[in-house]
Formats: sequence, C-alpha cells, structure tokens
Amino acid sequence: TDTRNIPALINKAETTHDLTKAEIVTLLTDTHYQAELFAAADRVRQKYVGDEVHLRGLIEFSNICKQNCLYCGLRRDNKQVRRYRLEPDVIIDFAVKAQSYGYRTVVLQSGEDECFDVDKMVYIIKKIKDLDMAITLSVGEKSREVYRQYREAGADRYLLRIETTDKELYERLDPGMSWDNRVRCLNDLKELGYELGTGCMVGIPGQTIESLADDVLFFKKIDADMIGIGPFIPNPDTPLAGESGGTFELSTKVMAMTRLLLPDINIPATTAMESLNPQGRVLALQRGANVVMPNVTEGEYRQMYLLYPGKICINDTPAHCRSCITGKIQSIGRRVSETHGYRARRAQQS
Ligand code: 5AD
Ligand code: SF4
Ligand code: FES
Repeated sequence: TDTRNIPALINKAETTHDLTKAEIVTLLTDTHYQAELFAAADRVRQKYVGDEVHLRGLIEFSNICKQNCLYCGLRRDNKQVRRYRLEPDVIIDFAVKAQSYGYRTVVLQSGEDECFDVDKMVYIIKKIKDLDMAITLSVGEKSREVYRQYREAGADRYLLRIETTDKELYERLDPGMSWDNRVRCLNDLKELGYELGTGCMVGIPGQTIESLADDVLFFKKIDADMIGIGPFIPNPDTPLAGESGGTFELSTKVMAMTRLLLPDINIPATTAMESLNPQGRVLALQRGANVVMPNVTEGEYRQMYLLYPGKICINDTPAHCRSCITGKIQSIGRRVSETHGYRARRAQQS
C-alpha cells in the first residue's frame, strides 16, 4: 500500500478528530507508522483528559446468564462453569471495601441473571449510593422502564458493548439476540442520562478491518462517554474454541483510533489486553487509555467469572491488585485520580 500520506492522516486525526471510513481503514491497516499513531493518541489523551488514571472497583456479582453468546465462557450452555450469585448484602460489603481502597466508582457486572430483579437491584444501588460512590452497571439488555428505575435509584453509568456493528455477524455470534434491540438499549440509556459505555471485541471470526472502522464511527455517532475495547480470546469451553483470537497490536490500534476521534471520553485499559500481554494495561495507558478497572470481588468467585482463558488477577486479593496497579500507574509517570472520574466535558461544566 501507499504509505506516503499516513503521517498526514495521523495529523488530521490528531487535529480535527474526524476521519472518513476509508481513512480509518488505511490507518488500521498500516504497519509502518503504528508508533506514530500510538504517540498521537497519547498526546490527545494528555491534552483532553490529562495524566490522571481513574480506578473503578469491579464487582462480578453473578456468573449466571440466560444468553448463549458463542464467544463467552458464561454462556448458558457451558456446563463446565460452577455458577454463583452473591447476596445483595455481600455485594454492598464489597462496595464498602472498594471505597476503603480509595476507589470512587463501583462497577456492578454480571451475566443476564433474572434473579436480580428491579427490587433487588434498586436495593443494592441505593445502599451503594449512600456511600457517595459513582455506580456503573453492566448487567445487559433490559427494558427502558427497568433502566429508568435503576437510574432513578442512583446508577450513573452503564456499560453495554455493541460487540460489533456488523449486524449479521452480531446475530450469528449472539443467537437469539437482536442487534437492533441492543442499539435501542444504548439509545434509551443515553436518553435517561446515563454516562454511556459501549465498545467492541477485536478479532472475532468473520470481522473485517472495514467493520472495525464502522465500530469507531458508531462510537462517535452514538456519542459514547466510555469505550471498552479488547481482543477476542477464544474460550476452549465454547463453540469458538478452535478459532484464532484478536491481537494485542490491532486491539490497541482500534483503541488509539477511538481516542483520536473521541478525544475527551474515558477509555479503560482492559483486562483482556493484559491477558494477551503482561504489560498490556500499561501499554494501553500509553496508547490512549485513562481508566483501569481493578477487580474487588473476593475469594473463589474470581476464578468462576471466566469469559475467556488466561484472565489476570484470578488468584490475587483486592488489596494486592490495588497496590499492583497503583505501582504500574506511577511507574509511567501518571497518577491515580481522586475524583469520581466522570467524562471530562461533564466535569468541566459542573
Ligand atoms: N474474549 C474476549 N472478550 C470477551 N467478552 C466475552 N467473551 C469474550 C472472549 N472470549 C467480552 C464481551 C463482553 C464483555 C463483558 O466481555 O465484549 O461484552
Ligand atoms: Fe451472557 Fe454477556 Fe457472556 Fe453473552 S457476553 S453469554 S450476555 S455474560
Ligand atoms: Fe491484579 Fe496486578 S492488578 S495482580
């Protein structure tokens, strides 16, 4: 390919935060100027969201899921998993501990577990809200009315990855699910005033570079406040066991592109990135990311929440992860934020 105009394209992305699909494809395909792309994303990160890294304490409160996504270890047909759900008061206790580690956001994540109905969730949300922590939910597709009640109870943010903007591919990998309904969920969440998090996997079977370019443009169009991107990692206990996974390099390129085009959003250095590369999160923080989500789930549950093999921290305690990640952040000249870490543009307004 003709690489003469690549530096000019990177410069255009850095200064205008606007590229065409063809231009994004060119940059994602290029291999000669990757270091320049990452450096540009790092400068944009520095300029718009600064050197602070926001830590979010992640509680994986149930690995029970009614869905059957082909890529995921928690899919309902996977009989290899020992299933668990935490009691509401145990979840609240983990949130109290997360606060004692200095985290100002708690992320409540689970499979799509019907047992956690609106009453239970509202009880948990209100109790954690009393701690003056920001609450992020990551519990899947619900009706607008349910999202409204969670929001009213005090939930601030919601994570629901689109996974891929290729509707056909999505519906092949998530049998029984509808891509249009997922977009409906994202639009409802945005309208209800949540900070909206979405994102995608990189390297799922059948995904193209064009489709990844569409993903980044979709994030921009829906005005996402947070974008989580990670490599697809084949899970041996799923139908995609024999497929090849995504690479660390391409995953960070898509992430860097997202930072260039959505300069002021929050972008986590994801656990899946570090599962492929022992320096994955630190490298991601130097290629556009500004958030890390250390696990605060205690005991044996960490080993049981396995979306993909090789997940990091499954034998570590919350206290260990807290000092581990703080050390990594400081080793690259960054610092841990003491704020709730809302999207930068919102923080500036209030
Ligand atoms: N590899 C990487 N990421 C995965 N997820 C689910 N299964 C896998 C896998 N095998 C991601 C999905 C989901 C998020 C919680 O985890 O993107 O939205
Ligand atoms: Fe369930 Fe989410 Fe896994 Fe799909 S990706 S099987 S919805 S936990
Ligand atoms: Fe868990 Fe490093 S963050 S061991």
